[in-house]
Amino acid sequence: MIKFPEHFMWGAATSAPQSEGYSLSYGKSASTWDKWFEMQPDKFNSNQGPDTASDTYRLYREDVENMQKIGLNSFRTSIAWTRLIPDGKHVNQVAVDFYRDYFKCLRDAGITPIINLFHFDMPWWLMEKGGWETRESVEAFACYAKTAFELFGDLVDRWTTFNEPIVHIECGYLTGYHYPDIVDFKKAVQVGYHTLMAHTAAVAEFKKVKPDGQIGIILNITPAYAKSDAPEDLAAKQNADLLLAKSFLDPTVLGVIPGALVTLLKQHELLPKTKKDDRQLIADNCVDFIGVNYYQPLRVQAPEKPQFPAQTPGDLYANYIWPERKINPYRGWEIYPEALYDVAMMMKNEYRNIPWYVSENGMGVADEERFMGEDGQIQDDYRIEFMQAHLTQLHRAIEAGSSCFGYHTWTFNDCWSWLNGYRNRYGFYRVDLAHGAKRAMKKSGRWYRELSANNGF
Ligand code: BG6
Repeated sequence: MIKFPEHFMWGAATSAPQSEGYSLSYGKSASTWDKWFEMQPDKFNSNQGPDTASDTYRLYREDVENMQKIGLNSFRTSIAWTRLIPDGKHVNQVAVDFYRDYFKCLRDAGITPIINLFHFDMPWWLMEKGGWETRESVEAFACYAKTAFELFGDLVDRWTTFNEPIVHIECGYLTGYHYPDIVDFKKAVQVGYHTLMAHTAAVAEFKKVKPDGQIGIILNITPAYAKSDAPEDLAAKQNADLLLAKSFLDPTVLGVIPGALVTLLKQHELLPKTKKDDRQLIADNCVDFIGVNYYQPLRVQAPEKPQFPAQTPGDLYANYIWPERKINPYRGWEIYPEALYDVAMMMKNEYRNIPWYVSENGMGVADEERFMGEDGQIQDDYRIEFMQAHLTQLHRAIEAGSSCFGYHTWTFNDCWSWLNGYRNRYGFYRVDLAHGAKRAMKKSGRWYRELSANNGF
């Protein structure tokens, strides 16, 4: 039997915009998702917009009970900035009451809340001023963060600033999956830099408001795997590592932006605008822990005809499909549990063995009703196998000394997945949208309860 360390965190993660619903009610203002859906509903799978989330706003008490039934001892969700401070200035008391009761319910049930501040949901009022493109966003985020720490700091000890900052940068400014849906490498870098400074400013506020708490950031990282040892492929790997992993890991854990990243951006005329004191602020505000979201490995090769200076990241590294790969056909993502061992060892060997946890890992599958048994339960053995394979690698890394303190899956209830709506389901509980978002435990939920009770499998 594989046993995990004492007090290991067994949990699941979601986000406010993907779970709460009531996206424009109870005083909440629009985020870019609400506006984008209003402008271009056809972009969204089955016209499912942000209002079609899993109704957690209404059902959170039942949800907390359901968490207990599958043995969760910890849970991550986020606060919707647009619900808490709808106009960027005034706190919405209805939102304060909701979040306080939600977090209190979790605590009373023995479930440690980990609360995140930004999960791709940029307020529309700020987007109208340029969103993360403008330096004003840094101060606005710091003010929101401080407000949240003050309002909920008595109920929440562990906080994170951003979920996967690389994703809103790439998807919004390079690949068209998030608003503003443009392709502009230079703006993408500036957006990344302001995100980093917003994170840093929030950590600085946290240290003042809640010095006894713990703050981290959630990153989607793995080391990049090069197609071969040819120098061009290795250079592509280095570029990918710098842009996608080290860009946030180094400043947040080690307190410095890597010199090689600055050189690369300079060569390609991509350096962002900065302020004099930024470097010191970064150095002074490292995180206490890291969350690693891991779904698929990053495989790269040298780009075929790169432009100089680079116009997109595709001029610095190209994606590579490993011929032997095993794939989740619904999401199109490679399944490669071994990378979890590699990322765990990277945290140990290159990032001062900082405490970290797996903050998301999971498998999205379409049309899961195909796997419904006679008793009405979804028999999602594929998800159990997926978790077992990843946990085996994680355990190996913990035995080798990596400081991993927990494992959270994506996700607890089936939830709304941005442009993909409800196509791929990830939850331990099925959400029946046709019947008032009714929840039903899947087989994987039962399995997770055993896992958590035995602290292993
Ligand atoms: C993570 C995000 O990248 O992956 C989640 O933090 C997201 O918000 C999850 O839902 C699964 O990806 P997708 O695109 O299938 O929803």
